[in-house]
Amino acid sequence: MTTTTFLAAAGGGAGNLPVIILLVALAVFGVAYVIVGPGRRRGPKRHGDIPLSMRPYHSDEELETTGLERAMAWGVALAVFSSIFLPLYWLIEPQRQDQRVAEHYEQDVEQGRVEYQNACAACHGTNLEGGSAPHPNPEIEAAWPAPRLDNIVARYEDSEIVEDVFDFIVEQTRYGRPGTPMPAFSEAAGGSLNDQQLFAMATYILSVQTGELPEAEAFVGASGEDIFQANCATCHARDASGYVGPQLLNVFERYDWDPDDEESLDHARAAVEDAIRTGRFVPGQADMPPFGQTLSDDAIEQLVDHIEGFQVTGGPSHAQLGPDPSPADTEE
Ligand code: HEC
Ligand code: HEC
Repeated sequence: MTTTTFLAAAGGGAGNLPVIILLVALAVFGVAYVIVGPGRRRGPKRHGDIPLSMRPYHSDEELETTGLERAMAWGVALAVFSSIFLPLYWLIEPQRQDQRVAEHYEQDVEQGRVEYQNACAACHGTNLEGGSAPHPNPEIEAAWPAPRLDNIVARYEDSEIVEDVFDFIVEQTRYGRPGTPMPAFSEAAGGSLNDQQLFAMATYILSVQTGELPEAEAFVGASGEDIFQANCATCHARDASGYVGPQLLNVFERYDWDPDDEESLDHARAAVEDAIRTGRFVPGQADMPPFGQTLSDDAIEQLVDHIEGFQVTGGPSHAQLGPDPSPADTEE
């Protein structure tokens, strides 16, 4: 293998220019050192058969004059070399690294696309447009909506509960959403995908974001009841008696509503509205997605009115949570 094919094989392309310059410069320097380095003496060889260890070295005079000067000249040459090469390398290196990062990114996107089509497309759609999955409770015929993923960034961007959408996607895919049809995929959780595959998939999902939020328009003019059935019933049950999300029948009371106290009503409404807007993210449990981006202010107010309409008092002070509801909870 020649040097150039070796270099090409080692990473390919013009991105390696500084490395090539470094190697060539070092080689030239090395050859020059061997030929005229400070330890060499000019003139005919005088050693004959004298064994290496007994050969005379430079005389004192030589060491103090020409030898010294040459050593110093080499020192200067070396200093000049590094003062030219190192800044040059420092200038070019970031560009080279950027190029490598870009190459890795493209590989991840491509790998993620393949993984996505294999593992996710059946529920979330081949173009990430969303879809559905059978309800985990076989007695319930209504399918469970699987959200579209091509606008997940727009939906979670301003969320207070999700700091980083990439990490969020990885986390959701790792552990799934217990109690919902969203499976866990990490090897640790009994799935078949390793972290590298999950990262690639999240990279792919982020690479095809549309930024569109058609959901926000979808419920204009709808009644609070309709909005609840379409967005909340899968998790909180059609009659709000709770499924993977807590029952909402006395949720106002849980937020300190007292029917005799006007102010406490405002407080409870604000708390419920806040839950709807920001959602709830409890790792390892079913989450509640934020609706602040996907429901209009009007729709959210309709919803809060609707929820207020069925409030009772005297219910439990803590809402039962979790993925283990009795089937009766989910039926009307
Ligand atoms: C069996 C169907 C199914 C498969 C397969 C599936 N999902 Fe899901 N996924 C769902 C459902 C249903 C939800 C919504 C659950 C809920 O209502 O909380 C969901 C939710 C999500 C969420 C949260 C979306 C949001 O807007 O909050 C992400 C991210 C996600 N899935 C990614 C993936 C990825 C990546 C894969 C492939 C590795 C995948 N899913 C495979 C059904 C599925
Ligand atoms: C994907 C499942 C899911 C969907 C869809 C969902 N929620 Fe939730 N919701 C939850 C879970 C889980 C919690 C509890 C989270 C926690 O705090 O542990 C919750 C909590 C709440 C709370 C706070 C309850 C309390 O006691 O603090 C309210 C209010 C609420 N949801 C209303 C709604 C409304 C209204 C909708 C529809 C716009 C909705 N949710 C859609 C799963 C969901």
